[in-house]
Amino acid sequence: MRLSPLYILAWTLQASATILQNGQVRDDPYLGQAPEVSVGDGAWRNYGPDASEISYKGRWDSQHISWWSLPGINLGFTGNQLALSFGPQTSEGVLLAYRIGGLDWEFSNVTANASYQFAGPSTPGLDLTQNTTFEMRVTNWGYGVQLSGVSVASDAELVVVPEYNKTVEIIGDSFASGQYATYEGLSAWAYNFAAGLGDVEYSITAYPGICLTDKQCWNNTAPGMTHQWFYASDVGMRAAATYGDHPEKWNFDTHRQADLVIIELGTNDRTNNVTGTDFYNSYVDLVNSVHRTYPQAHIVLMSLWGKFVRSGDTYNQSPSYVSEINRVCQHFKDDGFVDYFGTKGILQHNDIDPQEHPSDVGHIKIASHLMQWTKLKLGWEFGATGPEVQHDTLYWNDEAGYR
Ligand SMILES: *[C@@H]1O[C@H](CO)[C@@H](O)[C@H](O)[C@H]1NC(C)=O
Ligand SMILES: *[C@@H]1O[C@H](CO)[C@@H](O)[C@H](O)[C@H]1NC(C)=O
Ligand SMILES: *[C@@H]1O[C@H](CO)[C@@H](O)[C@H](O)[C@H]1NC(C)=O
Ligand SMILES: *[C@@H]1O[C@H](CO)[C@@H](O)[C@H](O)[C@H]1NC(C)=O
Ligand SMILES: *[C@@H]1O[C@H](CO)[C@@H](O)[C@H](O)[C@H]1NC(C)=O
Ligand SMILES: *[C@@H]1O[C@H](CO)[C@@H](O)[C@H](O)[C@H]1NC(C)=O
Repeated sequence: MRLSPLYILAWTLQASATILQNGQVRDDPYLGQAPEVSVGDGAWRNYGPDASEISYKGRWDSQHISWWSLPGINLGFTGNQLALSFGPQTSEGVLLAYRIGGLDWEFSNVTANASYQFAGPSTPGLDLTQNTTFEMRVTNWGYGVQLSGVSVASDAELVVVPEYNKTVEIIGDSFASGQYATYEGLSAWAYNFAAGLGDVEYSITAYPGICLTDKQCWNNTAPGMTHQWFYASDVGMRAAATYGDHPEKWNFDTHRQADLVIIELGTNDRTNNVTGTDFYNSYVDLVNSVHRTYPQAHIVLMSLWGKFVRSGDTYNQSPSYVSEINRVCQHFKDDGFVDYFGTKGILQHNDIDPQEHPSDVGHIKIASHLMQWTKLKLGWEFGATGPEVQHDTLYWNDEAGYR
């Protein structure tokens, strides 16, 4: 059998930009634009953003403003219409992914001070006998929404969707955020891993450019993860513009503890010349912080794949901070709550895109191996047996006439 490889070298310049697939424009990459509606008349029943039926995923602050990577909401509703309203702190034209149940993701941009209708009588998958589940996620880390309300038909209601029992938190940088991947957060290994497990709640505390060490790296507006992990908002310019020097603390007491924490950090420390000793010391601090916060959690340190450089007739990998990350694992060896996930051999040079981030295929490879690791090592069963996880990766070669 011969395979016809179709590598996706795709990137988005910003939310809702053109997708280039092997240099060709991808047709209709963002199907599903929701129409703007007015929810002020008697056709709607309106709920505020504090409604207990709305389950917030990822980090949102006390004003219902979303932060970090792939934050979202999940809810159930009866009847045949659903709208979301967005407050003044919503980024102009921010791209949202949304879906009914486990159907394929759709996309819509929204803007501040407006309401958009995400489900109507002709929406596929509506359950008119019971209730329909709806999920929404913000695809780009740099933008966000302020949820100001949810509306359903005047004779309908919101319904709680039970949460899954297990919780995963991913702490990372641009790789976990999906920078330069086709659908950004929705194409990242972090999402592919957590959504791939299927029956877990997940939160992705990741932001491009962030260092692990308490240092302001690249264009970030706040120090590294050892500091910022304790805050609701991220290290981007939007957070600095919203809060200045006074970001809100993240209230760990009112949110569920994670059972599993995956840390993938250090690539930015390397490029910002953090010494091995400083990196090691910061990593030990971060693991101690996470363990104090979530005493029951397994904490997994992911090795850094580094760079792939052409050498003679092949490519060589030069991973970053190998001995330091191993020493951090050694430091916690007797405690039993720290595990190591080695990425050696999973990615090859052509799994990295021209901007030095994993291609969509690279992200899926990391996620798939990590899923299997989680099953073998921790005994977690895979819970997704049908719903879409990776969006728009259904491409194939129908040629049957080889000889
Ligand atoms: C949204 O409304 C607020 C308050 O009414 C206003 O200050 C702001 O300029 C509006 N934003 C946009 C994008 O229209
Ligand atoms: C929002 O989406 C519509 C429909 O896809 C598109 O025409 C428009 O350019 C988008 N606007 C922004 C600001 O991205
Ligand atoms: C609503 O739908 C969800 C998902 O199917 C289900 O778990 C839940 O029990 C339903 N709630 C009600 C009140 O029907
Ligand atoms: C969570 O665990 C409880 C107790 O084991 C079980 O009854 C329930 O069905 C689980 N919920 C989900 C959504 O898996
Ligand atoms: C970094 O910040 C500088 C100055 O504010 C700005 O000109 C530049 O575009 C920023 N770079 C990125 C990648 O955001
Ligand atoms: C890190 O060090 C290299 C080599 O000395 C230098 O070229 C680079 O500018 C430094 N990077 C930063 C962010 O300081």
